[in-house]
Amino acid sequence: TTPAHDPAKLAAARAAVALVQDGMKLGLGTGSTASIMVEVLAERVKAEGLSLRCAATSKATADLAESLGLRIESLDQIGWLDMTIDGADEVDPDLHLIKGGGGAHLREKIVAAASDRMVVIADPGKVVDQLGQFPLPVEVLQFGFETTRTLIRRALSDLGLGDHDVLQRLKGDDYWVTDEGNWILDLHLQAIPDAPALAHALAAIPGVVEQGLFLGMCELAIIGKPDGTVVKLN
Ligand code: A5P
Repeated sequence: TTPAHDPAKLAAARAAVALVQDGMKLGLGTGSTASIMVEVLAERVKAEGLSLRCAATSKATADLAESLGLRIESLDQIGWLDMTIDGADEVDPDLHLIKGGGGAHLREKIVAAASDRMVVIADPGKVVDQLGQFPLPVEVLQFGFETTRTLIRRALSDLGLGDHDVLQRLKGDDYWVTDEGNWILDLHLQAIPDAPALAHALAAIPGVVEQGLFLGMCELAIIGKPDGTVVKLN
């Protein structure tokens, strides 16, 4: 791995890859921290001749992994996974997460749900007392997009979350399109006092494909520090 990597992310990535055992079926996350993990994993596979089966949470991760010599199979080819290692945008004290800053939370959630164990790797900036400072990503179908946005606004107001920005994610001058061909709304909530209630309300809205709250899914969070050490939260 290049020394240019953020030392905290690299430390977390290395500690997570140390959990990998020969013969494992693995889910590979998305984002800058997960990308470092994929590099570290590819180096270990090469050095130790490990035999792994890997599924990716995004096209970007699949492309990166394959460019480094890791073979990627579809989730359904592999079936159940032993472990998924992924990044996060926020981690709270109960290991509830916000994910989707990289726009991949739909596939990430399916892959995490298909895993015995979800391990999150992150730098200290991701650790929060309460979720919500990071805008919550919601993947939405293109059909009826504005209707879905209106229904989301109503749900937020019904939950007493007030009138917050619900902004369509852009990539340059274009709309952000996910790997599944959908658009993304980012909910700028500042704070999410009742994450299960919000997850439940969003799931009930037609047109919402998936939202970025990962509740009760992460078993271990490895927080890397700039000095190269890690703190494990579980
Ligand atoms: C991708 O959709 C996200 O869930 C990422 O896992 C998350 O945004 C963390 O990315 P970084 O490691 O780049 O911060």
